[in-house]
Order: sequence, then structure tokens, then C-alpha cells
Amino acid sequence: MTETNREWLLVKRPEGEPKASDYEWRESAVPEPGPGEFVVRVLYAAMDPAQRGWMDASGNYMPPIPLGAPVRAVVLGRVVKSNVDAHPVGQIVSGLGAWADYVICKPGYVGPVPVEWGHDLTTYLHPLGAVGATAYYGLFEIGKLKDGENLLVSGAAGGVGSLVGQMGKIKGCKVVGIAGGAEKCRWLTEELGFDAAIDYRVTDNLSAEIGRHFPNGFDVYFENVGGPTLEAAIDNMALHARIAICGMISAYNDSHNPPPGPRNMWNILVKRAHVEGLLVSDYMHRAGPGYQQINEWIKAGKLKFKVDVREGLENAPEVFNKLFSGAHDGKLMLKIGD
Ligand SMILES: NC(=O)c1ccc[n+]([C@@H]2O[C@H](COP(=O)([O-])OP(=O)(O)OC[C@H]3O[C@@H](n4cnc5c(N)ncnc54)[C@H](OP(=O)(O)O)[C@@H]3O)[C@@H](O)[C@H]2O)c1
Repeated sequence: MTETNREWLLVKRPEGEPKASDYEWRESAVPEPGPGEFVVRVLYAAMDPAQRGWMDASGNYMPPIPLGAPVRAVVLGRVVKSNVDAHPVGQIVSGLGAWADYVICKPGYVGPVPVEWGHDLTTYLHPLGAVGATAYYGLFEIGKLKDGENLLVSGAAGGVGSLVGQMGKIKGCKVVGIAGGAEKCRWLTEELGFDAAIDYRVTDNLSAEIGRHFPNGFDVYFENVGGPTLEAAIDNMALHARIAICGMISAYNDSHNPPPGPRNMWNILVKRAHVEGLLVSDYMHRAGPGYQQINEWIKAGKLKFKVDVREGLENAPEVFNKLFSGAHDGKLMLKIGD
């Protein structure tokens, strides 16, 4: 155990993409747990697009990170000091923490992961963590995907999107993904079994390209990106289509000047479509069956995934920004401790 706790603090609300000057590095003593608390040595921090919203004054579905506080993140780590019987020293846990070597935790926000399932620890921050629960409950409870339907997913080569598309294939659906770059598109079709992938970076007319794959429209669209991608999707809905709004990463750095909304909302009426937002925390209290199903699919080789693990707490701000350029290959995370 190191004797120093290193942390990244948020000291300025970012304008656009976060900059080095928005953060400050602090070193202090390893914290002691108070009554009802335990201390976790952080091993990995997930790099999640939602963190960008937490940096804004308005926050998103969680309050903003206070200025001067450590940058909030979903982490995985080992309990090293504890005043809570249910979380003994040595337990591997995951939940809300920070870009830090050590975090003080309370039960409810951080809990044990099923290490007995025998996966690499990073798996519990991807398919067997909030990313997997987002894909599973978003697709089946918000998207209400049925066997054999037509499924469109954006951000398809990302953590959530790549799982969504594969779950669609498991259910016998036709699945088309939208992703940035030839290599990501190749991975989707050749290794994950998507029926087709559209490289939005080189497509002149995304709406027409979606229509080419779904001449009668899609039944479910799983939305991770927003902006022009959403508008192109709305052009191509089947009657009674469902759109599950999971994220809109294309606008996360534009909170001061958000892009205009889709101009074709009329089509929602024409197609009697259903648009619904999803928030993974609504499902976490009952995510057990979803995780068991995902675990079975992984063990059966039906669900594949990639993690892109970068090293070193000192690199956190730089690594985080890769989310917005797509310069990562699989679910992005940072290794902070051994
Ligand atoms: N609602 C919830 O509870 C919940 C929970 C978890 C995640 N989410 C959302 O799910 C989405 C995916 O999250 P993730 O953790 O799996 O991240 P991710 O997809 O692994 O990484 C983000 C990806 O977004 C794409 N992207 C970035 N800027 C873009 C732009 N301007 N236009 C199009 N694509 C862009 C990039 O892929 P390309 O290289 O393909 O461009 C990038 O790799 C995010 O919108 C996130 O906010 C929601």
C-alpha cells in the first residue's frame, strides 16, 4: 500500500473538451474510514462519457462534481480499511469513486462484485458492470426488442453499443451498427456478427445509408450519439418503432451551445413511434438476473468484448478525452493500482 493518496481534483468547469487547466493534482495522506465507512484502493477507473456531464454546473442525472472535489468515476478496487462488517478488508468492490489511489466509500454506493465467476477484473467494469446492465435493460426493457426484429445501434463499436448489437444477434435480429472508422466497422461485422456497419465518418448521406439496410425501417434504435445521427435514424423508422435514448455523446462538449434538435420529429407521429430515455441506475437494485444472463452468454462465447486499458493515474485527463475522438479500442479504462 502506498502511503500517499494522489487525486485529480476538478477546479474549473470545462468549456468544450476538458483541458489540463480544468484539473489540479493533489497528494495527501491515505484517508481513514469514519463510522460506517470503508477505504478502497482503486485498481481501475472506468472512463465514462457521463463524467463529462458531471463536470458541468448543471450536472446530468447526478449532481455536478463540486469545484475542488476529486473527479467522480465508477471504479473497481480492493477494500484496505473497513468499519463495515459487510465489506471486509480484501473484498473486491465496484461503484462510485474517483480519480484517486484511495477513496472513502459507504455501503450502497459501492458493493462487491462476483469474483467467483472467474473473469479478469476489468470484465466487472464492462459487460458485468454498469455498461452491461445499460445494454441489457436498455435494449429489452426500454427498446422492448423482440426476436427477429430490425435493430439499429449507434456508438456501435463502443462499450454499450457493441454489447447491444450482439444481444440483438442472440435474439435473431437483423443488426446494423453505426461507428467511426473502417477498422471498427470490420470488427462489428467480421468478429461480432453484425449484419452491417455504417462508417459515419465517410458516409455522405447517413439517412439514405440506413434506409438502404432497412428499406422497411427499423423496429428499435438504440441511441448513444444524438445530433445528426438521431435525425438520420428518425427518417427510417418502421411503424410503431421504439427509440431507446441511452446517450448523446456528440453534444457532451457543447453544453454551452447545444446543437439544434432533430428537424423531423413529425415522423414520430406519422410512425406512432415510442421514444424513451433510460438510466442504468434505475435497474441496479435488480440487475442480478441481467448479470447472470450476460455471464452465461460470455461463457458460451456468444458475447465478446474488448477493453482498452491505459496505465497511470497521472494520465487520467488525457485518457478521458479519447472518449470524444474515438481514439480507443473497446471500453476505455485506466489502471491505477495493482
Ligand atoms: N443512460 C445510461 O444510463 C448510460 C449508461 C452508460 C453509458 N451511457 C451512454 O452510452 C454511450 C456509450 O458509452 P460507453 O461508455 O459505451 O462509451 P464508448 O461508446 O465506449 O465510447 C464513446 C464513443 O462514442 C463515439 N463518439 C464520440 N463522439 C462522437 C460523435 N461526435 N459522433 C459520433 N460518435 C461519437 C466514439 O466512437 P466512434 O469512434 O465510433 O466515433 C467513442 O468511441 C454514451 O452516450 C454514454 O453517455 C448511458
